Amino acid sequence: MRHLYKLVFIGDGGVGKTTVTALLAQVYASSGQDVLAVDVDPAPCLADALGLPPELRRELHPISEMEDLIYDRTGAKPGTTGGFFTINPRVDDLPERFSVKHRGVRLLEMGGVETGGTGCICPESALLKTLFTHLLFRNDEILLLDMYAGVEHLGRATADFVDAMLIVVEPTRRSLGTAEQIKKLATDIGLKQMWLVANKVKSREDVEFITANSPGIPLLDQFYSNPDVIEADRRGLAVYDYVPSLREVAERIAAKLSEEFQMSH
Ligand SMILES: Nc1ncnc2c1ncn2[C@@H]1O[C@H](COP(=O)(O)OP(=O)(O)OP(=O)(O)O)[C@@H](O)[C@H]1O
Ligand SMILES: [Mg+2]
Repeated sequence: MRHLYKLVFIGDGGVGKTTVTALLAQVYASSGQDVLAVDVDPAPCLADALGLPPELRRELHPISEMEDLIYDRTGAKPGTTGGFFTINPRVDDLPERFSVKHRGVRLLEMGGVETGGTGCICPESALLKTLFTHLLFRNDEILLLDMYAGVEHLGRATADFVDAMLIVVEPTRRSLGTAEQIKKLATDIGLKQMWLVANKVKSREDVEFITANSPGIPLLDQFYSNPDVIEADRRGLAVYDYVPSLREVAERIAAKLSEEFQMSH
């Protein structure tokens, strides 16, 4: 049976998580595989990175902002706390209903929930949490999660379902420091398989800096800094189409992952 990978893209702010997620999504889709890319950022921008045309873009809304849906499924209005609501609402139909599909990539926006310090006990977070768990359990397509900084969405129960966590780093101490924190949190929930993916490197020395300062996480590959990435963004085009040199690295990463998974399964 073909293995449907579940990959998590994570890292410090602005390092290139969304760019790399979009590239990998389009690599898998162009090889004929079904892909579900999920934007877990409260300020979604994966749609732009995938070069979604405006008419599809307009159809897409973050789940966290669907007040009627949240009310319908949990029995309480978003923003309310302390009242009664369902903590395990029905979610299995949501990925198909609220995603859009563009060139073989299905895209779903989760949106953000104000979690505060202790974690929010509110209807919208119950819905998102249940949906997140459902995404990790189901096995219908390759799942790519474009995460923002934290790993709080990933629980112990779901860590086993993640095939690999790809921590995107730049050649900076700051992003490597974040990688170290992510590694600690990931190890705590039992996630073992992780790699660094370097982005925005300018030289061999940049790559050496990353390997020399890595918190014990192997480097899978590196994307070079390329002004065409910004230009693709300005033109509303996918990096996959506009910057062949980055697409090639993404293809190499997919091939390396496939080799790694064959060895470990
Ligand atoms: N290899 C690259 N060369 C040049 N610019 C890049 C490269 N990769 C990403 N960028 C640019 O860096 C910026 C941040 O990239 P991206 O949005 O992918 O990062 P992110 O980690 O998802 O950010 P956020 O934390 O805000 O979600 C974007 O303007 C993007 O176009
Ligand atoms: Mg992003």
